[in-house]
Amino acid sequence: MKLGVNIDHIATLRQARRTFEPDPVKGALIAQESGADQITLHLREDRRHIQDEDLVRIKAIITKVPINLEMAPTEEMKNIAIDVKVNRVTLVPEKREEITTEGGLDVVSNLDYLKKFVKEIKENGIKVAMFIDPEFSQIDASFETGADAVELHTGEYANATGRKLAEELERLKKAAKYAKDKGLKVFAGHGLTYDNVKPVAQIPEIEELNIGHSIIANSIFLGLDKAIERMKRLILEARVE
Ligand code: PXP
Repeated sequence: MKLGVNIDHIATLRQARRTFEPDPVKGALIAQESGADQITLHLREDRRHIQDEDLVRIKAIITKVPINLEMAPTEEMKNIAIDVKVNRVTLVPEKREEITTEGGLDVVSNLDYLKKFVKEIKENGIKVAMFIDPEFSQIDASFETGADAVELHTGEYANATGRKLAEELERLKKAAKYAKDKGLKVFAGHGLTYDNVKPVAQIPEIEELNIGHSIIANSIFLGLDKAIERMKRLILEARVE
């Protein structure tokens, strides 16, 4: 199983002072050397954390692992992804007032638009994943767009407790199997921590997790290298159990 490390919140801290540190590019380099299989970053329309220049610098400096750009399916973002030639884009919904990505992309309701959007990106040699809620209808629609993969939104699972937690895990398991059976690659992410990652890492169809906030939060106390190594170890241990 692969770990994509989302470095957005290194930039969140920098933007709190509009200064030059901490530098997310330095974070990406440390992640690359500490077991990250991919660097994930979200260029938001409001540029609240990652800036365009960060993406350009990361693409130039990170050579050993792929770059996964999370972005809203807008014309502006499409042009940036193609210009920078990222390895993959993950299409996410975006609302300006939200604190973080809330819910998955509604592929069902925007199918025609997204079909065209995915086609154009793929024609430029960039892989596409759809960040969706673990629902069969969204998986079917993602498949129809021609996307290579779905990233299942684990936010509901991460927020759940008790019976709801078991239900959300079951939803993820069913969705992962359904998507894989359709021939899609299956990834997952959002809200995952050292405490809740194991059951998700044990879903055999999921081949990659994208984790950001918790790793960056723990890096304050552990150092970024150790925070990443710990998550990677937990994921790999969960997999062999
Ligand atoms: N995957 C996607 C598509 C996301 O939008 C995010 C948040 O940017 C993540 C994974 C990582 O979520 P978290 O920061 O909660 O680990």
